[in-house]
Amino acid sequence: MADYEDNKQNTSFTLFNNETGKSYELPVIKGKDGPNVLDIRKLYQETGMFTYDPGFTSTASCDSSITFIDGNKGILRHRGYDIHELASHSEFLEVCYLLLHGDLPSPEDKQKFKDVIRNHTMLHEQLVHLYRGFRRDAHPMAIMVGVVGALSAFYHDSTDFSDINQRMIACHRLIAKIPTIGAMAYKYSIGQPFVYPRNDLSYAENFLYMTFSVPTEEFKISKKIVQAMDRFFVLHADHEQNASTSTVRLAGSSGANPFACIAAGIASLWGPAHGGANEAVIKMLEEIGDVKNIPEFINKAKDKNDPFRLMGFGHRVYKNYDPRASVMKESAHEVLEELNKLDDPLLKIAIELEKIALKDEYFIEKKLFPNVDFYSGIILKALGFPTSMFTVLFAIGRTVGWISQWKEMIEDPINKIGRPRQLYLGKTSREFQKESTREKKSIFKWLWK
Ligand code: SDX
Repeated sequence: MADYEDNKQNTSFTLFNNETGKSYELPVIKGKDGPNVLDIRKLYQETGMFTYDPGFTSTASCDSSITFIDGNKGILRHRGYDIHELASHSEFLEVCYLLLHGDLPSPEDKQKFKDVIRNHTMLHEQLVHLYRGFRRDAHPMAIMVGVVGALSAFYHDSTDFSDINQRMIACHRLIAKIPTIGAMAYKYSIGQPFVYPRNDLSYAENFLYMTFSVPTEEFKISKKIVQAMDRFFVLHADHEQNASTSTVRLAGSSGANPFACIAAGIASLWGPAHGGANEAVIKMLEEIGDVKNIPEFINKAKDKNDPFRLMGFGHRVYKNYDPRASVMKESAHEVLEELNKLDDPLLKIAIELEKIALKDEYFIEKKLFPNVDFYSGIILKALGFPTSMFTVLFAIGRTVGWISQWKEMIEDPINKIGRPRQLYLGKTSREFQKESTREKKSIFKWLWK
């Protein structure tokens, strides 16, 4: 957290405790864009009270200069550049440089960065054996958590993160190796041999090569498909303080190894409410099965007593169309056209579902729009990925965001360990009960059968 003397406004909020008659000044700190914040860092010390915000719906957990989202206007910018511009004119490794270093690279720096990343794409051969410890039907996300966490056992030459060189090599290793790890997880699940990276290919093409090529045949793939894969990674690169990024920051705030922190981020992303939604969207579209069944599922999503939610819809921040979803929708059309699959029934159901939902009072009133996961699964399925690999692809794109946010936190001179407090609602102090005096009731009735 930077010091805010220059950002402090002369405005403040006055908190008045009508029990004690005391009032407290809460300074306002102005952001460069988006909402200002109330500085409550001294609140507990001055009032003896905490704020209460489960799920952090109104809480800024940190300051950052990497990604800005305006949820009401459906705006997403990385270091000031709009996502539509980056998705149209940039390639993924250029966006990686932007997120890490704050500006788009010069042509020379772009080439140097690509060369550095290329030199780290291979895995240590001992790590290759780690895959053999998993069952073949292990979920690829379980393998990602395990193998990325295991990287921390291999790199003892980059553990002093106060040293910029060691910090940067850890960032480069993660960006470079995550596609290799993801492709190997897929190969392992289908019993095919691992394919080593090729440094003559671009980042996205190399990933598709390691995933879909076989030693017995020449690998051919269209430029449009490579471009769609690269754009997919750009659209997933970073997204402010989402659940998995906050997990990485909290893990990293204790000084934990960045490889272990990214493994924690992968674990958080796996949840169906977060990155696991792209896999859940396809399962939902397949369950809907036909356009005529859409009204039944829309009603289920609106039914308070039904836990079913429209996967790929809604967002904590976006109360407008997720800008990534509109780019993803265009990309889905391009990919399906390129692969002659425009008659894909899932695309038809998705388009019809979106049309009906966006006209429905419930979705309008709750401002529920398609998010990044709604169309992404259709692209990935058309490219030949099994649904179990969808969140792995999200993780490959998001690794640069996680590690950029980790780097920003580590480089913050006032970096503190994250340690939230709580509202305690448990038992107050009570005498210890001797076993003989305890009630005979058992809470294990359902286990004791
Ligand atoms: C990602 O944070 C990020 O930036 C994440 C992400 C990133 O790039 O990192 O953008 C990636 O995770 C996208 C989101 C993918 N998840 C899904 O598509 C799962 C389906 N969506 C929901 O589970 C939900 O919308 C969340 C989790 C995304 C957001 O939940 P919130 O902000 O906690 O909102 P909420 O659950 O309080 O919902 C508000 C209301 C509720 O109704 P009420 O209790 O007010 O009556 O809207 C309803 C919800 O029941 N609602 C939905 C709904 N999403 C919210 N109702 C039906 N279908 C849905 N999808």
